[in-house]
Amino acid sequence: MSETVERTLILVKPDGVKRGQIGEVLRRIEAKGYRIIALQMREASADLLAEHYAEHTEKPFYADLVAYMSDGPVVAIVAEGERVVEGFRSLAGTTDPTSAAPGTIRGDLARDWGTGNIENVVHGSDAPESAAREIAIWFPEL
Ligand code: TYD
Ligand code: MG
Repeated sequence: MSETVERTLILVKPDGVKRGQIGEVLRRIEAKGYRIIALQMREASADLLAEHYAEHTEKPFYADLVAYMSDGPVVAIVAEGERVVEGFRSLAGTTDPTSAAPGTIRGDLARDWGTGNIENVVHGSDAPESAAREIAIWFPEL
């Protein structure tokens, strides 16, 4: 058996932590068969978020995104497995939780609370290159 090991960076965002969804997210990652190889809870500083969301710093929603992502601790996770980057994006569902498919994390565990920004419980790297960049930000020791 030869598995091309791939890693992805997953976050349980502050809304997921506050709503008691850490275990459910971990359960779905493990139930799918991916291996959790690193995990930490921490508050994300503005500097860390600017690195993590570098592609979004000029977007109109960026200030609200930082406020949301700073509103309590997040749980950062590195998961490993064949095609885990694509696989976790599939588990997570689409960005907008209102239209995310039932059965996905966002489809099942998130919704629009009328706050004006998207609160969607999890982040998952969108490509292997993004995963490598994001893992280096959150877990420089790896
Ligand atoms: P994006 O990378 O487009 O989505 P994803 O998390 O699915 O990769 O956007 C990053 C986060 O920014 C997204 O999870 C929620 C927030 N966001 C908004 O608040 N408003 C928006 O219009 C978009 C596109 C994203
Ligand atoms: Mg993204």
